[in-house]
Amino acid sequence: MSGEDSNSALSTQDPALTLRLAVLLSGRGSNFLSIHNAITSGTLKGEIVCVISNRPGVPGIVRARELGLPAHEIDHKAHPSRLDHESEVLRVLREAKPDYIVLAGYMRLLSSSFIDEWRHRIINIHPSLLPAFPGVDAQKQALDYGVKISGCTVHFVDENLDAGPILVQRSVEVRGDDTAETLSARILEQEHQAYVEALVKLAESRFRIEGRRVIFDAAR
Ligand code: GAR
Repeated sequence: MSGEDSNSALSTQDPALTLRLAVLLSGRGSNFLSIHNAITSGTLKGEIVCVISNRPGVPGIVRARELGLPAHEIDHKAHPSRLDHESEVLRVLREAKPDYIVLAGYMRLLSSSFIDEWRHRIINIHPSLLPAFPGVDAQKQALDYGVKISGCTVHFVDENLDAGPILVQRSVEVRGDDTAETLSARILEQEHQAYVEALVKLAESRFRIEGRRVIFDAAR
């Protein structure tokens, strides 16, 4: 990554290129499918070069295989330690050579050496307007706190939980009769759009990071 220091980084992407994406998931995979649909419909100039699940047999990885994508089930329970599991994930990633690693409901923490190797190339989606409500059950946290607006955040992954520089956010109104389920469902609709929006920006524009701010140049 040229020109990088602790406060700034420049995209290495040539915006004219198709984005090579590795998707990591642990479950349902609706964000993965929305990204896949954006690629097949031509909205996003990209290619999914591998899909990795740490949970065998979950709907996301089953669908990836049905779609003919390179699908890898790397069961964390079959590995003696977190780092051992991660080294297998890294082996697949290094072979697939993605431009970006897309976490789509991947419920595993990444080690700092993993994050360092792929600095500013790992993207996550979180179902709240960060920095509010990081961690698990973000939608329930928002409801319990009583906020009137919540939403979702697409961000680069750094060493802290749900905390890296923000690419895209979308807001969702919290209704008086919302349950965690109804709020989650409306946020999820926005997640699907926000993730695609962030990836389209990465595909079409250069960006730089100043401090915590991700600044996109105009698309060309
Ligand atoms: C999504 O709501 C995503 O924001 C959340 O998991 C769900 C995965 O759904 N991720 C996190 O909470 C990460 N902190 P999906 O499998 O249908 O894409």
